[in-house]
Amino acid sequence: MKTVRKSILTISTLFTFLILLTYCIVSCKKEITISGIELLAQEIPAGFPQPVYTFQDNPLSKEGFELGKKLFYDKKLSADNSISCGSCHEQKAGFGTFEHDLSHGINNSHTERNAPVLFNLAWSTSFHWDGEFTSFKEAAKQPILGHIEMGETFENINNKIKNDAEYKKLFKAVFNSEIMHPEYILKALAQFTGSLVSANSKYDKYKKGTVSFTTQEENGYQIFKAKCATCHPEPLFTDYSFRNIGLPVDHHLDDIGRMKVTGKTEDRLKFKVPTLRNTYISSNYMHDGRFGTLQQCINHYRTNVQASPSLDPLLTNGITLTNAQSDDLILFLRALTDSSFIQDPRFKTQ
Ligand code: HEC
Ligand code: HEC
Repeated sequence: MKTVRKSILTISTLFTFLILLTYCIVSCKKEITISGIELLAQEIPAGFPQPVYTFQDNPLSKEGFELGKKLFYDKKLSADNSISCGSCHEQKAGFGTFEHDLSHGINNSHTERNAPVLFNLAWSTSFHWDGEFTSFKEAAKQPILGHIEMGETFENINNKIKNDAEYKKLFKAVFNSEIMHPEYILKALAQFTGSLVSANSKYDKYKKGTVSFTTQEENGYQIFKAKCATCHPEPLFTDYSFRNIGLPVDHHLDDIGRMKVTGKTEDRLKFKVPTLRNTYISSNYMHDGRFGTLQQCINHYRTNVQASPSLDPLLTNGITLTNAQSDDLILFLRALTDSSFIQDPRFKTQ
């Protein structure tokens, strides 16, 4: 009797062990590649559509992300070692420039447009306010070489960082090369910027049913759906189209927007619809950062839309809102703030 019980026990232990072993092999296989780097799954929040960029040409890994992050915060990527990507794209402002209209580049220059926020970029169909670029790599290459932003060459960057042991280790692990080829630098930057996902605001929790809105937020949400959501649709709060919202032309900057890319007069003064996620903490606003508050943005739609041939037909008569509706709308927009994202230690500089 005793022996029978003992052998049943041994069999069941063996069985459990086998299950655990199989589980480990399956799950470890998913994460560890042959070269020993840890592959990461792309984060796709519930309710989001399929991303446009899926890291197909650039397998997302822990080491690739860490390399991208190190490059993102490294001032050696600029000619005078004073500016990093993170100087203009600050985490506390959703990776836009905190409370500035334009951003400072090397040699006391400043950019001609407001630095956009950087998150949920894997869903974006184009980059820059006029959609000049369609890939992450081009969007990262422009500021490195651009005389206003960082004004550096890849050759100099390579010379400056090639003896850094941490870089050597990461380049070797991710690209199996100790040569810091421009292509690898841009791919690693794409791994970091493409992994910045923000989807944990009060609005997201409300959608999941874990928190409720105040009466004013609920009211603001309804107004938003009626008056703003055509161009700023949920869940990304942009449709990535180019539109002219009738902002008075700044004759000093004289920015023609999308027309600069397409050459078509019908695209004059059209700019990419920005996301409104984290908008409360990412002032300044609009392509030139002309507004410092959400109130000013909303007042523009209410009272100051300028007529012109390319004005969006939705805005021919502006947007009518009472003061109380405008207040509620702002409270709704504030509920799009994802404070866990702007504090996420994974995205912080070391
Ligand atoms: C001097 C400030 C500055 C620096 C440095 C800078 N950027 Fe930017 N970034 C901007 C501005 C301004 C824009 C908008 C340009 C435009 O629309 O013409 C922008 C746009 C972008 C965009 C497009 C976002 C979108 O939604 O359209 C990406 C991606 C980006 N930057 C990544 C980077 C990376 C990566 C680096 C470092 C290699 C970097 N930036 C360095 C100011 C800067
Ligand atoms: C016809 C499309 C359209 C409609 C309708 C619309 N927007 Fe916009 N929105 C845009 C575009 C395009 C921009 C960028 C314009 C620019 O910089 O030239 C923008 C910019 C903004 C910005 C600035 C964001 C930033 O990061 O710079 C805010 C805030 C904003 N809109 C809120 C709203 C609200 C609130 C409503 C409804 C009352 C609304 N929008 C309706 C297209 C639209």
